[in-house]
Amino acid sequence: MLLLHTEKLKQIKMAGTRTFTMIKPEAVENGSTGAILDKMIKGGFRIISLKKTQLSPELAGKFYEVHKERPFYGELVDYMSSGPIVAAFLEKDNAVLDFRTLIGATDPSEAAEGTIRKEFAESKAKNAVHGSDSDENAEIEASFFFTEFERF
Ligand code: CMP
Repeated sequence: MLLLHTEKLKQIKMAGTRTFTMIKPEAVENGSTGAILDKMIKGGFRIISLKKTQLSPELAGKFYEVHKERPFYGELVDYMSSGPIVAAFLEKDNAVLDFRTLIGATDPSEAAEGTIRKEFAESKAKNAVHGSDSDENAEIEASFFFTEFERF
């Protein structure tokens, strides 16, 4: 009984401490990678994993599969495979929600002052950064880019 309780507490403590992000092609291309990573670090996020790479259209399509039925899916896949991105796996308490607060609304015209998208995004499509929408998706998305040996 005591062991069960301890295990439960451990799970609760561990829940929600990780999120996944990509710095998108336009932000990488215009040299904002360092400034954006700095905002993440100053926002209290610790970098577990970090990688610069380019998605193939197939991998971008798979990554954004949840949006397959949306009218912008084709545009999204083309764009996200158009140039290098920087992928990062991040750690902080309440990671998913706090990171979404730090990056701001999907549409930069609706993003709050001081958020990453307000400062660096061009449009809803070219919105500088991706942020996971759930703990489960954070793990799935991180697995696209990082093996267990690339997590520190
Ligand atoms: P992201 O957080 O990467 O997750 C899905 C992405 O779809 C989102 O950021 C936007 O860049 C993109 N997106 C959402 N709505 C639109 C839209 N109306 N037109 C183009 N892209 C969109």
